[in-house]
Amino acid sequence: MTAFLENPLNHLLVAVDGSETVGYIIAYELQRPDREQSMIHLYDITVAKKHRQKGIGTALIEQLKSICSTKPMMKMFVGTNRSNEPAVGLYQKTGAVPSDDTDAVGLTWFF
Ligand SMILES: CC(C)(COP(=O)(O)OP(=O)(O)OC[C@H]1O[C@@H](n2cnc3c(N)ncnc32)[C@H](O)[C@@H]1OP(=O)(O)O)[C@@H](O)C(=O)NCCC(=O)NCCS
Repeated sequence: MTAFLENPLNHLLVAVDGSETVGYIIAYELQRPDREQSMIHLYDITVAKKHRQKGIGTALIEQLKSICSTKPMMKMFVGTNRSNEPAVGLYQKTGAVPSDDTDAVGLTWFF
């Protein structure tokens, strides 16, 4: 956790209700060698089951967007499945535009 937070390009936003953690976002700021603008990879967002559909996911993403707006930022992106309707709904509600690509495939190297 300390190593993660010491890196200013790593982002962890936590939603709390009193002393209870009810949601979080993990995101990574990605730099490119050929332009000043960076990108944000929204890697994970989760809201605890009993706290869903109360606007917490929206608030977490809006907070991440406000961090983006303080930096030279090209875009923020996330991957999910079309069948994950809560996630797709949340992302679109907060301004993300879905690709119409049906040919895309994700590939992973596991170590
Ligand atoms: C996706 C997730 C983070 C949404 O969090 P949330 O706090 O419930 O989201 P919000 O209350 O801010 O809802 C925002 C929008 O998301 C959509 N949404 C949320 N829950 C939904 C559901 N059960 N069904 C359909 N749409 C839903 C709606 O468009 C909603 O807008 P509305 O309230 O105006 O209808 C939450 O469902 C979750 O943790 N899911 C499991 C983890 C996950 O799949 N994460 C995404 C990985 S890519």
